[in-house]
Amino acid sequence: MHVMIIGSGGREHALAWKISQSPRAERIFVVPGNAGTDIEGENVALPMDDFGKLIAFARDQQVGLTIVGPEAPLAAGLVDAMEDAGLRVFGPRKNAAELESSKVFCKNLLRSADVPTAEYQAFSDPEEALNFLRSREDVPVVVKADGLAAGKGVVVCSRRQQALEAVEQIARQKIFGVAGDRLVIEERLDGQEASVLAITDGQTILTLPPAQDHKPAHDGDTGPNTGGMGAYCPAPLVTSEMLHWIEEHVLVPTVHTLKRSRRPFRGVLYAGLMITKQGPKVLEYNVRFGDPECQPLLMRLKSDLLEVLEAVVEGRLERIGGLEWDPRPAVCVVMASEGYPGDYVKGHPIRGLEDTESLPDVKVFHAGTAVRDDRVVTAGGRVLDVTALGETLAQAKFNAYRAVKCVRWPGAWCRKDISDKALQN
Ligand code: AMP
Ligand code: GLY
Repeated sequence: MHVMIIGSGGREHALAWKISQSPRAERIFVVPGNAGTDIEGENVALPMDDFGKLIAFARDQQVGLTIVGPEAPLAAGLVDAMEDAGLRVFGPRKNAAELESSKVFCKNLLRSADVPTAEYQAFSDPEEALNFLRSREDVPVVVKADGLAAGKGVVVCSRRQQALEAVEQIARQKIFGVAGDRLVIEERLDGQEASVLAITDGQTILTLPPAQDHKPAHDGDTGPNTGGMGAYCPAPLVTSEMLHWIEEHVLVPTVHTLKRSRRPFRGVLYAGLMITKQGPKVLEYNVRFGDPECQPLLMRLKSDLLEVLEAVVEGRLERIGGLEWDPRPAVCVVMASEGYPGDYVKGHPIRGLEDTESLPDVKVFHAGTAVRDDRVVTAGGRVLDVTALGETLAQAKFNAYRAVKCVRWPGAWCRKDISDKALQN
């Protein structure tokens, strides 16, 4: 079968790598891809937002399955356009992807499904939001732009003044554009965060082992927020008992409520959870594999991913039974460009990648890389996702950082404490 993967990050490299192991995969196209995906498959230089060209390419190349990596094309309706053109594609349609593209929709759905989440109010009038904040006690709140804002539309506030400023910037100054047309103001929750992802065809739910991301730039969860500086899996914070509870009280009611609302969900449902003293509560939903959580997850997956994703598209996930996992934990360390998540320079040649190839149980997934004059160069903020398995989490961490040491370019940096949160528990 010919498979097309949409996206260009570490998640898409991991997807291409895993799909390439399926005996059924013949050709793998990655649109637009990076230097790593071009090794697992073939990069195709098409814009992700030109649905007409993507559909024409898929038809020409007889693509049997398309997998959409990032949220933007899902929110823009790529799955709808491809399905309506008679093509098979893994990912939710636009009306189900609203779970991620509209925080107001997500919160209202959580409330109607009776899924535990922070108390909230939604606003479309900035004045009302400001009055709401002024009229209540000065307690910690979180202000969220309704729409997609590349992970930056959430402001966690300790004091009222910060919240008032956040409303001013998001809803009045529109620093995230139309994403700020509506707002959610919600109670700030305390606890540790975990990511629980599930693959679903809208009927059957296959829950993946829990993972943990590291969003702040620096060690000890300090510094500005990023797209994610590392992840590991499984996260012992979420016990198997808790995982069952999350399935029953979070994932199942969400999928059922979407179905009842005539927005059947097919794809990856990713619950971003806060594990509070009262139990797990949903912070947000994503409608795709998490990046970087996908990398350690797929490193541990033993089942044939292509078979599983095809079963979702054909609505027969029930017959897959379950997924098979490597019992060993996996740790993924993101290596980033100097200056990220702020401005950074691209185009530095990356050295030492070949030295990582002989290391056992290590895979270096590419994120922001490109090929220039036959050399792999940096081409983004998050550059490489160095991922390793180990007998224990500590060993997986050791293996990942040993590989990190092999790779260099001017200004390369990474967090040094990926997975330490688990080791402290
Ligand atoms: P979201 O995009 O909604 O996941 O928010 C991004 C990040 O903001 C989360 O990963 C949390 O670290 C933080 N966050 C979001 N909502 C809350 C909340 N209600 N309480 C505390 N932190 C939150
Ligand atoms: N790892 C967080 C995300 O993919 O949004």
